[in-house]
Amino acid sequence: MNEETYQDALANPRNVGEMSDADAVGTVGNPDCGDMLRMWIKFREENGRKVIDRASFQSFGCQTAIAVASMATEMLKGRTVEEARALDAAQLGGELGPLPPMKMHCGQLVEGALRNALDSGANSPTTQEPGVAPQAAGATLASDIAKSSPSQGGRLRIVPLDKDQ
Ligand code: FES
Repeated sequence: MNEETYQDALANPRNVGEMSDADAVGTVGNPDCGDMLRMWIKFREENGRKVIDRASFQSFGCQTAIAVASMATEMLKGRTVEEARALDAAQLGGELGPLPPMKMHCGQLVEGALRNALDSGANSPTTQEPGVAPQAAGATLASDIAKSSPSQGGRLRIVPLDKDQ
């Protein structure tokens, strides 16, 4: 792993924060370490193709997940859905280079959130399970977790990380 790039991504993570006008939102949790990551995506038309205009993220995750998400959200700009879907965890880390084996799942958390966002689309009624609070485009990860408490009568839709994907 490139230590200089890693430290830069941690000191100044790019594209952190919810996106109020997102077209797609994905939230993934890793049951093993308890970390979570949400990614927002906004598309635009370019030469008749739908490409990613910008992406952002929020994370209750480790530093490696934050560094990979920072790199990934930069890398996704200008890519089509198909191109984005073809990127695996190692590629999403970009110039971070190969992650240590014990940190591979941190990159997979980012890959999972990206795939979940690409699969679901924002606020699509067809993606919501009954009784599950919708992932509003502008809702922060923290606010959705607070609203998901039983006393608030809601549940948060979090996709468990599929490490076999
Ligand atoms: Fe859980 Fe890194 S330790 S995502």
